Amino acid sequence: MKLIIATRNAHKLEEIRAIFDFQGLEVLSAFDFPELPDVEEDRDTFEGNAIKKAVEIARATRCWALADDSGLEVDALGGAPGVYSARYAGEPCSYEANNEKLLRELSGKEDRSARFRTVVALSDPGGSTQTVEGECCGVIIKELRGTNGFGYDPLFIPDGYSETFAELDAETKNRISHRARALRKAYAAWSDLLVGL
Ligand code: IMP
Repeated sequence: MKLIIATRNAHKLEEIRAIFDFQGLEVLSAFDFPELPDVEEDRDTFEGNAIKKAVEIARATRCWALADDSGLEVDALGGAPGVYSARYAGEPCSYEANNEKLLRELSGKEDRSARFRTVVALSDPGGSTQTVEGECCGVIIKELRGTNGFGYDPLFIPDGYSETFAELDAETKNRISHRARALRKAYAAWSDLLVGL
């Protein structure tokens, strides 16, 4: 049984492989299929993008495929940047410019609550899908802190902690993050199905 992970992001792949590491399952990625086109993430929900990526890769490879889509939702900004998290400050995508824009948009706002969300989609070779989701709630602080991680990590303190994601070590972040939670749910929901194929 082959499962194709619809990503060319090496960090994501490592995180997914660590969880989906069981006998009877061969985990490949978009790196193993260089001829596959990049799937455009043009849907307006995390679920829409995750499903689109999983289905396109499943149909193209005739294998089962798993894809994820994530982002940051800030309550005082009506859920922005949301699905536009990667390109919040425009193209070319820059974590630094995105963080600056987030601080600008939130300046003077009392409510700093936010959450990271991930939707993981699984598609069978014919394009039938299932999804699970994970979230990590917290607050956006007023200045960048820490150098670990990526994206909005230096501005986000998860609930129950006093450090930002960028100050926490990778092991802690990978235990409590939106992606880790969604992937653990995906494993619980789908490992029997995948290994039984
Ligand atoms: P993706 O769908 O996982 O590629 O995430 C889209 C965008 O959301 C990224 O480019 C980041 O800006 C943001 N993002 C997603 N996950 C994280 C995270 O764990 N930390 C910080 N930013 C994240």
